[in-house]
Amino acid sequence: MTTSHEWDPSADPEHIPVLLGEVVAALSPKDGGTYVDGTFGAGGYTVALLEAAHCTVWAIDRDPAAQGRSEALSRKYPQRLHFVPGRFGDMADLLAERGVTQVDGVALDIGVSSMQIEDRARGFSFLRDGPLDMRMEQNGRSAADIVNSWSEKELADTIFNYGEERHARRVARAIVAARVERPFSRTLHLADVIRAEVRRSNDGIDPATRTFQALRIVVNDELGELERGLRAAERMLRPGGVLAVVSFHSLEDRIVKTFLKSRSDVASRPSRHTPASLGAVPVTATFTAISRRPVTPSDRELTGNPRARSARLRVAERTSAPPLASVAGGRA
Ligand SMILES: C[S@@+](CC[C@H](N)C(=O)[O-])C[C@H]1O[C@@H](n2cnc3c(N)ncnc32)[C@H](O)[C@@H]1O
Repeated sequence: MTTSHEWDPSADPEHIPVLLGEVVAALSPKDGGTYVDGTFGAGGYTVALLEAAHCTVWAIDRDPAAQGRSEALSRKYPQRLHFVPGRFGDMADLLAERGVTQVDGVALDIGVSSMQIEDRARGFSFLRDGPLDMRMEQNGRSAADIVNSWSEKELADTIFNYGEERHARRVARAIVAARVERPFSRTLHLADVIRAEVRRSNDGIDPATRTFQALRIVVNDELGELERGLRAAERMLRPGGVLAVVSFHSLEDRIVKTFLKSRSDVASRPSRHTPASLGAVPVTATFTAISRRPVTPSDRELTGNPRARSARLRVAERTSAPPLASVAGGRA
């Protein structure tokens, strides 16, 4: 596992950037421009942006292992690549601390990297035995803490809502029964308990997939982070700046779609917080959606990288209206 030392590419499984050409084309970097790569990972998007124009990239990642991977690249692109440890939901504060308040583009590639999934010590995979961890930041509450302490109802609701698992109640009941015998500490222990309860579906998807997804989402508060990241991008993008978000499952895509719809379709909407005497609050759209439908990977990309199969890219351009959260009565 890489930590704060420099990245050794031969020690890490390769992460193939998803929808790379489409994301770079959407941001269309220009010389002198400033861009945020909110999910640095292995730096695929960052490098492509730096190569496309003489621009500056602020690369954020909450995983301490990503910093090591950024070091050689920072030397290759001196003064142009700045790695920022932290969460993209905090990008406005993280960049303001470094003197940056407006940017020309923000890219978010939501989810986990191949390095994280493949490293059994991180506990993301139900195929390899490892500690039941799943913490991108490598601190805080782990997946084991959750399955060993949450009530059956809390587990069932989480697995249903974030894993979209039809058999969530049965899985939760089995988890609670199994942990009495032996608390969970390993990924395969949990995967085996789930597999004993839920049969493999016709599409061949491992029954542990959905429960592991649910746990990963809550361990890292991924949906809350996405919402904060979208609002932060709204604050940071200058007029004409572009937001490009790649997501990997319907829960994430729905958040992006709903956010962009709410931000591009808001003219003069009365706020329910506004006294009737004041009438409608003049609220102006903060984004223009570039297309209604999300961009999906080509057959060619899917052949080379099956992991891209559920990826969806949504792109929107920032208008000159103030961020909605700062408008009186605007929804944060
Ligand atoms: C799918 S990978 C990104 C891969 C990257 N686009 C590339 O081409 O190499 C997602 C990365 O985002 C990071 N990440 C996920 N959520 C984050 C958040 N809220 N803030 C910062 N980094 C996050 C993960 O640690 C992981 O390294």
